[in-house]
Amino acid sequence: MGKKGREIVEVDIKELLKDLNSAYADEWIAFFYYTWAADFIEGPDYPTIADELNRIAKEEFEHMSELADRIFELGGEPERDIEDLQKIAGCKKVVFPKNERDLESVLNAVAKAEGCAIDVYKKIIKKLSPCYEKDLRTFHLLEHILSEEIQHEEAFENLLEKKRK
Ligand SMILES: [Fe+2]
Ligand SMILES: [Fe+2]
Repeated sequence: MGKKGREIVEVDIKELLKDLNSAYADEWIAFFYYTWAADFIEGPDYPTIADELNRIAKEEFEHMSELADRIFELGGEPERDIEDLQKIAGCKKVVFPKNERDLESVLNAVAKAEGCAIDVYKKIIKKLSPCYEKDLRTFHLLEHILSEEIQHEEAFENLLEKKRK
């Protein structure tokens, strides 16, 4: 990040970088599990759910990349060790059912993962509030990601509701 751009950040950058790296790890993990689930599931409703999983996985990938940009700008480095990604993640894993036709359990698991992501972003945003101008760029980025995580949870829960009918 440019000198001035970094100068205007009035938060503990070390702590912020730790939080952003943890969220970065969460995004990789979500991307991995959702893509995996899209290939794994079967059953009559599978195409709609697989499409949604792939669509949302793409957004998680974008979040990961946006967080990486911000981490670099703040003078940090996104976690490069794949084994450490899981160690530093806030939402460590998604547990899927053994049966690939149990789509209700799959949807429950991914909706829960979105709930975890919502908590993660809400927590970091809270640390930057109420004086969000202390790091405007991170604040707006996290606000944007949080609003998409809320939409993801909603999308999975809507599919779950349809499934239960
Ligand atoms: Fe995400
Ligand atoms: Fe999400």
